[in-house]
Amino acid sequence: MIMIKNKRAIAKMEEAGKRLAHIFQHMGDHVVAGMSTLAVDTWIEDQLKKAQLLSETKGYHGYRHASCISINDELVHGVPSEKKMIKIGDTVKIDVCASWQGYCADMARQFFIGTVSVQQKNIASVTEKALEVGIKKACSGSHLSDISAVIQCEIESGGFAVVRDFAGHGIGKNMHEDPEILNYGSPGKGPILRPGMTFAIEPMVAIDSYKVYVADDGWTVRTVNGSYTGHVEDTILITDNGPKVLTRLS
Ligand code: MF3
Ligand code: CO
Repeated sequence: MIMIKNKRAIAKMEEAGKRLAHIFQHMGDHVVAGMSTLAVDTWIEDQLKKAQLLSETKGYHGYRHASCISINDELVHGVPSEKKMIKIGDTVKIDVCASWQGYCADMARQFFIGTVSVQQKNIASVTEKALEVGIKKACSGSHLSDISAVIQCEIESGGFAVVRDFAGHGIGKNMHEDPEILNYGSPGKGPILRPGMTFAIEPMVAIDSYKVYVADDGWTVRTVNGSYTGHVEDTILITDNGPKVLTRLS
């Protein structure tokens, strides 16, 4: 069942979103070559604490970190490690879900370390565009799969592949709530969207093939063909006046 959030819940999600977006605003300066992904996670954990945000991933099915940090062919759920060093030419994707007074916001962004290839820039920008068109479709009266369909169209017309094994999701008191928001599918299907619904939309993109696997650490999702990947995420609220992105500073 898709929960409709009341005013009080929405206010808390808005606050969680703002605080998280504020942390992401400064993140680019703190993610540099020569740093381990664990060091980045430690910085994020400290920022969450300062913002009085509670990590929703720490303790989630045994996950032990405040962020997922996925580099290049790692798509999502990259486990921070002191052995994973960030280097020039990397695309680093950072995903953080945290709550404020019991309500969550989920957000992910892509960072380039120094100069990267045209292909890396392209996949990252198509991924961002897919998120944008997905958000625009999140309107009262639309069908859930209208979001999925435009995301798929944007990714495939950009020449890339939509990863099928993971999806966006409802969000609220819990990081993952109903519904599952696929990044592919035909429009006009699934539940009708209503004001007060809150979603985490997160397109996941690969090159040539959408096949992915979970690495030996039990979490990190990587492409089978070793291709670069794209992933961004925002938490949004459906209002009477269209979608409102909670994880951006206006
Ligand atoms: N924040 C992720 C999402 O977008 C979930 C991470 S699950 C973890 O759904 F446990 F790996 F952190
Ligand atoms: Co998410």
